[in-house]
Amino acid sequence: MLPTLAVVGGGVIGLAVAVRAAREGWSVRLYDPALGSGASWVAGGMLAPLSEAWPGEHRLLTLGAHSLERWPEFGRSLGTNVFTASGSLTVALDAADAADLRTVAEFLGQQGFSVEMLSRAQIRELEPSLAQNIRLAIHAPTELAVDNRALVTALREAASQVEFLAEEVTDLEAINADQIVVAAGANTASLLAGMPVRAVKGEILRLRRRPSAPPPPTRTVRGSVHGRPIYLVPRGDGLVVGATQHETGRDTQVTVAGVRDLIADAERLMPSIGEYELHECSAGLRPASPDGLPVIGRISDRVIVASGHGRNGILLTPITADAVSALLAGDVLPEAKAADPSRFEKVAHP
Ligand code: GLY
Repeated sequence: MLPTLAVVGGGVIGLAVAVRAAREGWSVRLYDPALGSGASWVAGGMLAPLSEAWPGEHRLLTLGAHSLERWPEFGRSLGTNVFTASGSLTVALDAADAADLRTVAEFLGQQGFSVEMLSRAQIRELEPSLAQNIRLAIHAPTELAVDNRALVTALREAASQVEFLAEEVTDLEAINADQIVVAAGANTASLLAGMPVRAVKGEILRLRRRPSAPPPPTRTVRGSVHGRPIYLVPRGDGLVVGATQHETGRDTQVTVAGVRDLIADAERLMPSIGEYELHECSAGLRPASPDGLPVIGRISDRVIVASGHGRNGILLTPITADAVSALLAGDVLPEAKAADPSRFEKVAHP
């Protein structure tokens, strides 16, 4: 008899954990009433630990960089191409942004990561569709972007050995399995008392290039407008524009103000964006933890948690699958130690 594993949650984290465990000899059941329809479906798909780095957040940077290293092999293992871009630019529109970029570049250098600083002319040469008043950029050539929806589909197809149950789990005690992995995203706290994972709403736009419009940038572009982060992620012949951040409980309605801000901020980075088709507006709930790091670890003899990935769920999918695989084998993945749930006092310890 194979050992049995129940995975609660069918976003990219739950799916990747399920696929991996099934390949490693577990009999896997995955519970989700609406597979792949949550934050994983809404996401932008940028794999950008360097661009999103900030001084003081070195543990998240290191974890993200370890996961980015795993992405090429993880992507290949899916048997279909999910990558949509390589390289990213984090841009400065004014002197304060430029000072921030220099601070981030210095921090990255101290942590052993090298990035290039690009001048106005170099930016225009690489990405002619970007605004002419962009004065400086950090270029991270090793960063990638993926089509999150193609990723959900590819993982679902790779999960032929997994049994899917379209059921909502409300009580882990009712599950009959040797081991349980809770990968329930923003629902995690309702299943695991004391788990400090809260929902952070994000609104996002999907744009398509119309024949008369200039082509989109070929790299992911990230910036900040009036203190609001904004990013453009290439997607075929279009762009994903994200994302707002609101702590409004479980609300997933798209607001007029959210769309207005995203369009206005995106236009500051790429003036021709108004010529694109506004194809889709959607919102999802990021599962966020208090310190911005995910929560991956064993919390009892039978239960493992893999949640709290915040803004980085797609990026951190490969390292999370590796970390959970190690936990199921009775080991610990050293690179994922910063995500250990025992850093939170209220969480039950094994
Ligand atoms: N991955 C960026 C965001 O959550 O908006």
